[in-house]
Amino acid sequence: MRIAVFPGSFDPVTLGHMDVITRAAAMFDRVYICTMVNAGKSPMFTTEQRFEMLRAAVAELDGVTAELWTGLLADYARERGARWLVKGVRSGTDFDAEYGMAQINRSLDAQLDTVLIPSRPELLHISSSMVREMIRYKRPLEPCMPRAAIEVMKGWG
Ligand code: PNS
Repeated sequence: MRIAVFPGSFDPVTLGHMDVITRAAAMFDRVYICTMVNAGKSPMFTTEQRFEMLRAAVAELDGVTAELWTGLLADYARERGARWLVKGVRSGTDFDAEYGMAQINRSLDAQLDTVLIPSRPELLHISSSMVREMIRYKRPLEPCMPRAAIEVMKGWG
């Protein structure tokens, strides 16, 4: 069984994430999408809120499970029996950051490899920080955020 983990802050989940998740689901038997803590970021949403939006967004996808983990990614991957980490890359800057993280995760677990999936060009401009701006300035979210996640957010008022 080929098991992968797609980790991230998901603050919030975007259509760019959804594209990578769908493509990863086609490559692996099971993909765990894990809401995590990025020590370098101050999120707009709490870890639980980010997880709730992510869970709603992937609820209909076969072989995909959303989870929340506040520890080390390498430990989570080992617990789930995953040999691969999946990340999306939009740019050379993303690649440099992901390359560094891939080395750290491999140093923590020699069995753990990282698969980088390039963004589709039409989604390149979508990022969680861009979506947060759309939320702050009350602009339509449908072009950048999955509908199910928007509904979850609306429920918070
Ligand atoms: O969506 P992001 O913010 O780019 O995701 C980064 C994330 C959350 C995957 C990364 O910060 C992470 O792996 N955090 C968990 C703690 C950990 O394992 N750190 C060591 C690996 S860099």
